[in-house]
Order: sequence, then C-alpha cells, then structure tokens
Amino acid sequence: MQKDTLVFNLIRQELERQRRGIELIASENFTSLQVMQAMGNVMTNKYAEGYPGRRYYGGCEIVDQTEQLAIDRLKQIFNIEYANVQPHSGAQANAALMLAILQPGDAILGLDLSMGGHLTHGAAVNFSGKLYQPHFYGVTKEEGLIDYNMLEAQARKVKPKLIICGASAYSRDIDYARIRKVADEVGAFVMADIAHPAGLIAKGLLGNPFEHCHFVTSTTHKTLRGPRGGVIMMGKDFENPFGLKDVKGNVRMMSNLIDMAVFPGTQGGPLEHVIAAKAVAFGEILTDEFTQYAKQVQLNAQAMAKAFVAKNYQIISGGTDNHLMLIDLRNKNISGKKAEQVLGMADITANKNMVPFDDKSAFVTSGIRFGVAAVTTRGCKEEHMNFIVDAIDTVLMNADNQAIIEQTKKSVNDWMLQFPLYPELG
Ligand SMILES: Cc1ncc(COP(=O)(O)O)c(C=O)c1O
Repeated sequence: MQKDTLVFNLIRQELERQRRGIELIASENFTSLQVMQAMGNVMTNKYAEGYPGRRYYGGCEIVDQTEQLAIDRLKQIFNIEYANVQPHSGAQANAALMLAILQPGDAILGLDLSMGGHLTHGAAVNFSGKLYQPHFYGVTKEEGLIDYNMLEAQARKVKPKLIICGASAYSRDIDYARIRKVADEVGAFVMADIAHPAGLIAKGLLGNPFEHCHFVTSTTHKTLRGPRGGVIMMGKDFENPFGLKDVKGNVRMMSNLIDMAVFPGTQGGPLEHVIAAKAVAFGEILTDEFTQYAKQVQLNAQAMAKAFVAKNYQIISGGTDNHLMLIDLRNKNISGKKAEQVLGMADITANKNMVPFDDKSAFVTSGIRFGVAAVTTRGCKEEHMNFIVDAIDTVLMNADNQAIIEQTKKSVNDWMLQFPLYPELG
C-alpha cells in the first residue's frame, strides 16, 4: 500500500509545532516515547469485549495480560481496591459511572462550569445535564475558593443522589472530608473527578480523595502523563448501600455495577492498544523519577504564579496548590479570546477560560488558564518560569504590535531548543 504522505506530513508538522512552542494548556502533557510506541501497536486489531478472563471473543489471552497489568499498576499507584481502565476518555468514565449509580432524572450536584467545573458535571449541553437533573455550587466571590457553605446548602435543598467534586480550572486542593460529611447527611454518593491533579495525588502531594469519596474518575493524559483515556477507581469496593440493582434485579457489588456500566453500558470493545500504553504510563508513575516530576510540577506552578503576581496579574484564589492557575485578565484590558490568539501567534499555547462571575461569554471570556505539566516534562524548572511569564506579559501588553509578537515568537523558539522533545524521532 502506498504510504499516506499527506497524513504523515501533518503528523510531522504537529511534532515540529509541539517542539518549538511553550505548551501551557493545563490539560496537556507529553507522554514518553515508549508510551506512544505502546499505543501504536497490533492490539488495535483486537476485539476484547468483556474483562480479563471473561471476554466475549477468543484470542484474548495476551490482551488479558496487558489489561490486568494496567489494572494492577493503577491499583498500586493509588493503593486502592478497584480500577477499570477501559473508558476511552474522561467523559466516558464519568458517563459510565453515572449510568452505574443514577436513574434518569436523578438530581446531581457539581461545580458550575463557569466557576471551574467540567461539562460532564451537569452542563446543560452535556449528557449529564440532559439525562439527570443538574444543580450547582460555585466559588466565593472574594477568595475564589469552593463555596462549601453553598455546596452544603444546595445538598440539603436538592437532595442529590450524587455530589461531584473535581474541576477543570480550579487551582486549590479540595476538602473531600467536608463534602463526604454532607453527602452522608443527605444520602448522596460522592465522586471525585481528579482528571487534572491525578499525577500529584498519585504522589501524595495533594489530599487523598479515596479516603472520602465513593468513586474517583480520571483522565490518563494530563498530569498522569499517559495516553489519552479515562479510568474509574474506588478506594474500597462495597455492596451498594442504596440497593442499586443490575438489569436482572440483582443487588450487586459496586465494582460489578461499574464494570457493567462501562461495558456493555456505554462502550463496546475496549481500546486494548491504548490500554497497553496506559499500562506503560502507570509503570512510569510508579518510579522515583515520576515522584520528582510531580514535585517539580508543583514547584513550577508556584514559581509561575509568583511571577504573575509580581506583574500584577490576578490569579483566582491568589495562587495554586496544583499544576494550574486561572488568571482574570480584566485589569490588563484584554479578553481571554484575544490573549489566547496573540499568545498563539508567539507559539505560546494556552486556552481562554471563563473566570468566576465572568461578565463575558464562554467564547470571549475574561480569563486564561495556564498549566505547567507539559513544560515540566520538557525539563523546565522554577528558574525558567520567569522567562515564560515575561514572554506572556510582553505579548499581552503588546497585543496589537506584530513586530514585538514576532520577535517574542523567535525568542520562544530559540529558547525551546534547550528542551529537546522526542529527539529519537529525528
Ligand atoms: C475535570 C475533567 N473531567 C473530565 C474531562 C474529560 O476528559 P476527556 O476530554 O478525556 O473526555 C476533563 C477534560 O478536560 C476534565 O478536565
């Protein structure tokens, strides 16, 4: 067959784009070469509906071993009893978990999207807001911290079946114990979606959600630095207290109900090639090298936040505990949309983001979100954060000056040469 030069040329161009720029999208990272290699393998050819040892197809004896390895390693990382590594993405993980424990029309309570939450936590445009009855809590106007009083009041008022914590744009740790307390009071389950800070939680650098939450979901491609994908986990398996039944009317252990909600509930055949790559990434997370990486991510985020504050940028909540920060640009007289656009012109990639109590639409926004997981993988340390913040500030303060943006782009490209990306790929 003729090589598809069109597509492979585009892949090459994407590699060059990733190499020359400063990647600050908080949900992105660079996997190791072996994680990528594990993803592009013959397991993409294999159907394996079911779970290791209980499949609906023959020939699964090898993929059974990789999937079991991924499960075992993930359980070891978080010291937990249950893991399902089949969800194709974070959104799929959340959909499956909700399918396992909710009925259509059940009330759910999550962090508002415009306050840092995620689409799958009840947004009107998402399955979670359409199938279930969504309610929200927010952050406080003064401090930008989760408004636990509001969360508790809402929980008592709407009596949700599920309280969701975790966020896409929240830079502080979460008080899981406090959320569990009100959940027990109103008879709700608690799910933590740790898609963003999972890599830091894995190394004990943030509070442990497994001690307090019934369920934990995550993506695998952000701070966990694995292939794109999702997982569902439980610290302890349990016989469900609300008598949730499977389709045959049997009360089952939660692990059975979750497994069934992933397959056949929401997915068909698992992506065994991606699961192989998850297994490799989980193996990497278990090393001391990853511990150093996770610590460096946190140090870099704090150094970056400090550098922004020194330039009078308004970080929501004043700083960060994890790998990201959300900046309100209103005092800098530039919208999130324009900031994203001009930074892109200087090869600095970030995304516009609504800030709490934003007066601009989600397409324009007053804010921008920065994360350091990717630049830390490139090799950046605290001392490099000043260069990055200086470059960002130069671009934002000269957003209509083509010459300065072009000059900054050149210095960004030169600067990134000291942090090689996939040198093995030539
Ligand atoms: C908190 C949270 N949950 C879920 C997701 C969804 O993950 P995916 O894009 O893999 O579906 C994201 C993605 O950004 C997220 O931030």
